[in-house]
Amino acid sequence: MRALVVYESIWGNTEAIARAAASGVGGETEVVPVVDAPPVIPDDVDLLIVGGPTHAFSMTTPSTRESARQQGATMIPARGIREWILELSPPSRAVRVATFDTRTVSPRLPGSAAKKAMKRLVARGLEPAATPETFGVHGYGGPLAGGEENRAKEWGSKVAAAVAGR
Ligand SMILES: Cc1cc2nc3c(=O)[nH]c(=O)nc-3n(C[C@H](O)[C@H](O)[C@H](O)COP(=O)(O)O)c2cc1C
Repeated sequence: MRALVVYESIWGNTEAIARAAASGVGGETEVVPVVDAPPVIPDDVDLLIVGGPTHAFSMTTPSTRESARQQGATMIPARGIREWILELSPPSRAVRVATFDTRTVSPRLPGSAAKKAMKRLVARGLEPAATPETFGVHGYGGPLAGGEENRAKEWGSKVAAAVAGR
């Protein structure tokens, strides 16, 4: 099993979930920030995991990232998963995909970056390996809600098992 985890993160919460999920997947799992993500899925990747923060009920946009900057964030990625997915080449073979997002726990708002990302990735020709998953963050900047890294690790191993047919 070879997996690639691509994440977008402003305050580091989504990155922590990405790394925890990767540890659950095990095997040779590479974790890359979306700014460094390849435009073509490498030939040896069986499972792609994509995660990002939920902004304004969906994936981030240049204007929601700008709004995060105005709220004091300093590490704003030059592009988000939305822009990367738009540029991603459809794979020439079967590649399974799982998506996750982070969201603020209070107030609970509708909308999920993970669901939107999955829709776009399926339109790009990837095959779903799991239903989109969400992890909770306190406020906008974090920290993660209690137990979320453990839950992400378990989620990662469940997704990997589904793809490996275990
Ligand atoms: C401009 C902006 C819009 C946001 N919109 C939502 C939202 O619609 N729903 C939600 O649950 N959280 C929303 N949030 C909170 C983010 O989901 C939270 O900042 C993110 O999960 C933190 O992850 P990160 O540290 O990886 O950036 C928003 C945050 C920002 C900055």
